[in-house]
Amino acid sequence: MIDFKDKIAEKIGNIINMDIQELKSYIEIPKDSTMGDYAFPCFRLAKELKKVPNMIANELKDQLAPDEVVEKIEVVGGYLNFYIAKSLLIKTVLEEIAKTGDDYGKQDIGKGKNVVIDYSSPNIAKPFHIGHLRSTVIGGSLYKIYQFLGYKSIGINYLGDWGIQFGKVMAGYSMWKDEYDFSKSEIDAILKIYVRYSKEEKENPELTDLAKKWFKKLEDGDEEARKTWEWLRKISLENYEKTYKLLNCKFDSYHGEAYYNDKMDKVVEELEQKHLLVESEGAKVVMLDEYDMPPCIIITSSGTTIYATRDLAALKDRIESYHFAKALYVVGNEQQLHFKQIFKVLELMGYEEYAKNCEHIPFGLVVDKNGEKIGSRKGNSVSLEEILQESIEKVRKIIEEKNPQLQDKEEIARKVGVGAIIFNDLANSRIKDEIFDWDMLLNFNGETGPYIQYIFVRTNGVIKKAGYVPEIKEVEIEKLLDNEAVNTVKLLYAFGETVKLAAEKNEPSILARYLIDLSQSYSNFYNEHKIICEDKKTQDARLYLTSACGRVIKKGAELLGMEMPDEM
Ligand code: ARG
Repeated sequence: MIDFKDKIAEKIGNIINMDIQELKSYIEIPKDSTMGDYAFPCFRLAKELKKVPNMIANELKDQLAPDEVVEKIEVVGGYLNFYIAKSLLIKTVLEEIAKTGDDYGKQDIGKGKNVVIDYSSPNIAKPFHIGHLRSTVIGGSLYKIYQFLGYKSIGINYLGDWGIQFGKVMAGYSMWKDEYDFSKSEIDAILKIYVRYSKEEKENPELTDLAKKWFKKLEDGDEEARKTWEWLRKISLENYEKTYKLLNCKFDSYHGEAYYNDKMDKVVEELEQKHLLVESEGAKVVMLDEYDMPPCIIITSSGTTIYATRDLAALKDRIESYHFAKALYVVGNEQQLHFKQIFKVLELMGYEEYAKNCEHIPFGLVVDKNGEKIGSRKGNSVSLEEILQESIEKVRKIIEEKNPQLQDKEEIARKVGVGAIIFNDLANSRIKDEIFDWDMLLNFNGETGPYIQYIFVRTNGVIKKAGYVPEIKEVEIEKLLDNEAVNTVKLLYAFGETVKLAAEKNEPSILARYLIDLSQSYSNFYNEHKIICEDKKTQDARLYLTSACGRVIKKGAELLGMEMPDEM
């Protein structure tokens, strides 16, 4: 497909002697489309040319002539605004879609490169925190986005499957198991025990010691403790699998913390050898004060390894197993320091090349519409599966009310209910708190998942009604020169770039916003123009555009982890 930025950079490069790639990097897309399709900010050249931006813009304009690519050039202030020839734009986009089909926008910039994505990673035998919903959804989307760009994505669910929570559950289980009903849901009973234990522990410190004793038994390889641990891990995973299935999430590895238990000695040894470990108040630490960070504790004063030690062992394993081009950790903002420390220690160990390709991908909290944190109330465990089921249930009710004769209601309710939750999570930049409000996220007219699905369904409906999608050779570009069609085509043109940008910033919200824009633009087009109409040629062109929009919306939503219903 023609890269219009390249064309403009070349045009400017013919006049001033400067690197084309550098010129290209300056080109912007104006927010207001009446200011052209691309803008070149001349202040970028002011220093070099020793002239004021507006003068540079005017001089450049005098030397630039419109051609078959650029139909008009204008000066506004210090900007040079370029208008791309509309027919060429439309032809370029539609032909590319015809050629590539469902692969439209796909790229191979990641060819031969591995990107390791650590996401979801809940602590098992503990209630699934709603924060893990965010990690699961954001990580799941990044997984698909990188794949689309040609990378090999490796999804790792680094389960928190080791730690004192097992001591609590085991101690609680041994004391209270007869008080709970395990026949319905083992995991529910376990979670209740965990929550009760944590609560009673506050008044009764003996329980803390007891939990420690049980955990020690586990660490020492006691058979009974080990068996219980395996059982707990198994039922927890079975429970998560249901959620992952609903969310359409996939992991290539479930190597969690426990997996690294017997692999930490090597890392500790290596740290020792490289003279990075120092004694501090009985603990062994890597000093990081030079980098304005507290020391990274590797061995605690009681002689045990901790979270950081395991993460280092896991990171080294990821280097050896995957030789990654990037390693992403999709984990809440509160663990920022932890990851900064780990990456710095890796660098100090001599793995600078890998350390600089490690990135923590933080995100904000989940709050209700009053800004109050959800899932923080003690003893109130939020099950992710329950939230998803509730969403599906609500959609089912809406369908019953509005469109009871629909077929496959179950399937549609699932796709829309789950899609609404996913989109709500990805709609805003991830570092912001996510507002979780049922009315908002299920609003079919808002900037929501259901809205996008609704517009997709509309494109489908139009094509169904017409009964055909024309061949590209039937499409007369002149029939698509109205503002609404041109705007829509411009957005279609931007699809590949948008996905690329979403990966560069590890920000699926860029794609989510784009899908809202595209859906709204198609909706305007649909409202302003009759698609099925008297003139066959006009109809063909509009139908083709409709089908192209449907395709891109579907693909984009798929990269967010959403599924599209055919009807709703
Ligand atoms: N299990 C941790 C938690 O729930 C998240 C793990 C993130 N990944 C990692 N490699 N540390 O807080």
